[in-house]
Amino acid sequence: MKGIILAGGAGSRLYPLTRIVCKQLLPVYDKPMICYPLSILMLGGIREICIVSTPRDLPLFEAFLGDGAELGLRFSYVVQVKPEGIAQAFLLAKDFIGGDAATLILGDNVFYGDYFYNEEGFARTVREFKEGGLIFGYYVSNPQEFGVLEFDQDSRVISIEEKPSAPKSNYVVPGLYLYDQQVLEICQHLQPSARGEYEITDVNRTYLNRGQLRVQRLGRGIAWLDTGTPSSLQEANAFIEAVERRQGLKIACLEEIAYRQGFVDRGGFQALTARLPKCDYRHYLERALVQVG
Ligand code: G1P
Repeated sequence: MKGIILAGGAGSRLYPLTRIVCKQLLPVYDKPMICYPLSILMLGGIREICIVSTPRDLPLFEAFLGDGAELGLRFSYVVQVKPEGIAQAFLLAKDFIGGDAATLILGDNVFYGDYFYNEEGFARTVREFKEGGLIFGYYVSNPQEFGVLEFDQDSRVISIEEKPSAPKSNYVVPGLYLYDQQVLEICQHLQPSARGEYEITDVNRTYLNRGQLRVQRLGRGIAWLDTGTPSSLQEANAFIEAVERRQGLKIACLEEIAYRQGFVDRGGFQALTARLPKCDYRHYLERALVQVG
């Protein structure tokens, strides 16, 4: 399974925060936003990851994340010259995907909950994924702002609509998608939508029409947070701060996850911790080593 993080877009709703740097590099409490979706892929056991971003921002991601070797990962970087929709990411990352399945996560989606930290949760979903498309459904108060799912009496999905004015349910599709190799052929045949984008909802609808779309509902114990506006970014900050301070455990701490997942050994973890400046983050990692070690 390959992983793709789409970290493009204009970030216009966050202007002027995004005037010189993209949204996905802005802080969410104590780390850049990209760490959160990246950590989800890592928790899913995905180690080959392609970051897709704008010509302006891609070098910044590269400066921040490097080639991934010190985390036991392999990063590729691909430019999205014009933001023309989520589905475009698959075409841009075609060579990277090769003949594999791919999990795409949006660079501004923050997920948190036991499902992601549990071997039998998301990691199992990724491990056992074989064919078709797999998306998630999450209950929100403002479905009209997302891709909306409609279910029949047997809880089977019967339609998906992008930002409908009259949503057919409160279940929407978060920015985390698993697809088999058909995704490339599907994306090649998409037409741009009214907003001029290659819509991920059209990809999902194609899988649905082929009878090959599965939807897993993410329950109430899971947080899926938006970060696209100043208020929602502020809420995500507050949420991460509250949970981290309460537990004394960090969310989306890439070094810790790499170590706990066995992507780096004890020596590698010690080496990368030693390279950090003396700060709370480093002290946290030193303690994590003691606890896990
Ligand atoms: C996109 C998708 C939408 C999905 C959402 C999740 O919306 O088009 O289906 O529910 O991401 O964050 P956009 O961010 O383009 O408004």
